[in-house]
Amino acid sequence: MKTLLLKVNPGKPDPEKIQLAASIIQRGGLVAFPTETVYGLGADALNHEAVLALFEAKKRPLDNPPIVHVADPSEVTRLVVEVPKKAELLMEKFWPGPLTLIFKHSNLVPKETVASLDTIAIRMPKHKVALELIRQSRCPIAAPSANLAGKPSPTTAQHVYEDLNGRIDAILDGGSTNIGVESTVVDLSVDPPMLLRPGGTPFEALKKVLGDLRLHPFVEAEQELPLQQIRSPGMKHKHYAPKAEVILVEGNVPDVIAKVKQLAESYRLKGEKVGILATDETQTAYRAEVVKSLGSRFDLVTVAQSLFRLLREVDAGGVDVIIAEGVSSDGLGLAVMNRLRKASGYHIVKA
Ligand code: TXA
Ligand code: MG
Repeated sequence: MKTLLLKVNPGKPDPEKIQLAASIIQRGGLVAFPTETVYGLGADALNHEAVLALFEAKKRPLDNPPIVHVADPSEVTRLVVEVPKKAELLMEKFWPGPLTLIFKHSNLVPKETVASLDTIAIRMPKHKVALELIRQSRCPIAAPSANLAGKPSPTTAQHVYEDLNGRIDAILDGGSTNIGVESTVVDLSVDPPMLLRPGGTPFEALKKVLGDLRLHPFVEAEQELPLQQIRSPGMKHKHYAPKAEVILVEGNVPDVIAKVKQLAESYRLKGEKVGILATDETQTAYRAEVVKSLGSRFDLVTVAQSLFRLLREVDAGGVDVIIAEGVSSDGLGLAVMNRLRKASGYHIVKA
């Protein structure tokens, strides 16, 4: 399959290109598009064949359902059994934006779209290209992140191209995404609500609105959870992993620096190429094949923005091992640490 590349202005998307992409969605095709978090790979959420093609293109396990994207909160009604009061509150405050809500789904939704679960994940993105594409397609769009399953999520059209060229119909290229980590997933089919995946909307902000909001143990897990504790299918699959082995070093900054240096040296002595994911405050302390800074430790918005891009860049440097520094778990840091722990396959070293 030839993958069509469509460059669009993210602030003022060209209607003809959106129309072309929408016509591909309408005939059951697959289109990657930018959202404010990461690029998504879109298909008509109500067309089960299109959704199956989506799983196939990504090589995604069939038991891990995608998020369904809508262009208006009112579109949720026909997809769900009921909209709980707390969901209304969150939609009012955080939509459009990086927040996905889990509802009990209605009969309209094909079982392929929800991997035979009785619940559905829905969000309204805050990106003109995504919103226009959904509107012109005249259907809700199922869109997992537009990477090959297990790889870091794409924050540029180039990342999508690297993973999916020849496997999908088109890519809408609207430049780099703004937030850089995926949406926060909150389950409202249970009470009290439970945060299943930390992401672009901070836990602290959600808790302020909801009062009682639980964190699923997976969010801060430092090892693989037993299967019976899993609440979101995505929890049990390998994720965000570059080709190189990843080691995450957590602790206070001086100890982290010492530990990273020591690890880098021991791998170098074994003849392995080392990449280090550092921060602005620490990067000059290291010598290695590749050293990159995620940004300042005090600017977790920037750290989140650069995380997936740098995981890919360090990997492209052909290193055998990537040693990454941990950061604070406040705000977007919770999502960053969750992704780094998963990327390391829970190879975590306490400094
Ligand atoms: O920011 C994002 O959320 C991006 C952009 C494209 O919108 N999308 C994204 O989709 O990250 P994906 O498919 O890569 O991640 C969806 C997550 C998975 O962890 C999946 O297991 C979970 O949502 N999920 C989907 N349906 C669910 C459900 N019914 N119950 C619990 N978790 C669900
Ligand atoms: Mg994903």
